[in-house]
Amino acid sequence: MSHNDKQFATVFVVVLGALAVLAIILFFIAGSLTKEISTYKEEEIILGNIEPVGKVNIDDGSAPQTPAAPEAAAGVETAAAAAPAAAAEPLSAEQIYQKNCMACHTTGAAGAPKLGDAAAWAPRIAQGMDAIMVNVVNGINAMPPKGLCMTCSEDELKAVVDYIIVKSQ
Ligand code: HEC
Repeated sequence: MSHNDKQFATVFVVVLGALAVLAIILFFIAGSLTKEISTYKEEEIILGNIEPVGKVNIDDGSAPQTPAAPEAAAGVETAAAAAPAAAAEPLSAEQIYQKNCMACHTTGAAGAPKLGDAAAWAPRIAQGMDAIMVNVVNGINAMPPKGLCMTCSEDELKAVVDYIIVKSQ
């Protein structure tokens, strides 16, 4: 082998070796990069899968405090659907009566004292408001607790009872 051939062979081997080392380094860099990307994507997918169906709507205090609707308590309703209900105007005593009490107290169903039936209401009114309210809140015989208006406050129920009494004297 001539001197030139020897030199060429040496340079050739060195370049080849350098390229091999570079290839190995690139292999590991590429490996660690794709690993980071793939774990990031997996994390995103997992977070999407375990995302809660609904979120608790934390009241900022601007709307009047109303207890959560039963559907919301069951976790079925989403925050978006619950918000308008919370912001809704409070119902009047008559509206609450129409919505919750009428079914029994207008028809007399289940032996309920009918609205306007003075004879049926007189002995109940005679007990005094406090005793009546205990029965309304806790229920008595076929009268369900809170007259089934679970979102009604005690003040609202009292207003409805006043409405009934005024119409039943
Ligand atoms: C499922 C039927 C039903 C519904 C709904 C209902 N009530 Fe009654 N309620 C009754 C019955 C039955 C009685 C009589 C209970 C008894 O004394 O045996 C009664 C009794 C009452 C009394 C008299 C309590 C007492 O001390 O004698 C009040 C006041 C009253 N209801 C208010 C309401 C109001 C207000 C609502 C709606 C928010 C309501 N009720 C909804 C069935 C019902």
